[in-house]
Amino acid sequence: MNYQVFSSYDTLSAHAAQFILDYVRQKPTATICVASGETPLLTFQKIVANAKPEDFEQATFVALDEWVGIAPDNAGSCRSYIDSPLITPLGIPAERVSFFDSLADDLEAECQRVNDFIASKGGLDIIMVGIGMNGHLGLNEPGTPFDTYAHVSELEEVTASVGQKYFQSETPLTHGITVGLKHLLEAKVAIVLANGEKKKGIIQRVLEESVSEKLPASALKLHSNSYLWVDSAANPA
Ligand code: PGA
Repeated sequence: MNYQVFSSYDTLSAHAAQFILDYVRQKPTATICVASGETPLLTFQKIVANAKPEDFEQATFVALDEWVGIAPDNAGSCRSYIDSPLITPLGIPAERVSFFDSLADDLEAECQRVNDFIASKGGLDIIMVGIGMNGHLGLNEPGTPFDTYAHVSELEEVTASVGQKYFQSETPLTHGITVGLKHLLEAKVAIVLANGEKKKGIIQRVLEESVSEKLPASALKLHSNSYLWVDSAANPA
């Protein structure tokens, strides 16, 4: 796991955006799994601002996760957090993007559909995610086996309460549907981004603790091409 500290959220996001742009210019058919949440928003903005029209003509995006029971057009949905700032401005057509339908009657089948979609692309090239206050990646909560593909997870209390920040009014959040840690471990490149003082404690844990399923982000240490990029406010040192 390569650990790098950037002077600001802006320089962190510029670096992450340039990494994605450089990657697709090398491999135009790349499959990129991106997270929702606040962390990647500036990266998305910088990708959109700096992309040439041809950069994403063949690339595929996979949305990392979704809150179970939240409609796609809800402004707080994970889909909205990826679609509005990234997918729509880049003009990615529906056949080159995967979102979880968390309203599906059969969520196991929905997981299988996303697993099959990722497999049909030959796996993920890049997975770029934020980190939760409990060390989750996507909605892979503490205790999730590292060898799990897409699955439905039961949310910890902290995830359900922190998740309220995405919604206009109190929203019950109990379960998530998420790309799995095995997808992350099998991706060619795994990137975790963190910014802000509030992430300092969890970044310290990732740096200091040994690999354990109790700390999902520690899976990064098992990956041979992984990056933990933080801004100075999130750096515990
Ligand atoms: P955030 O969420 O980017 O909004 O901080 C990250 C996460 O919970 O995984």
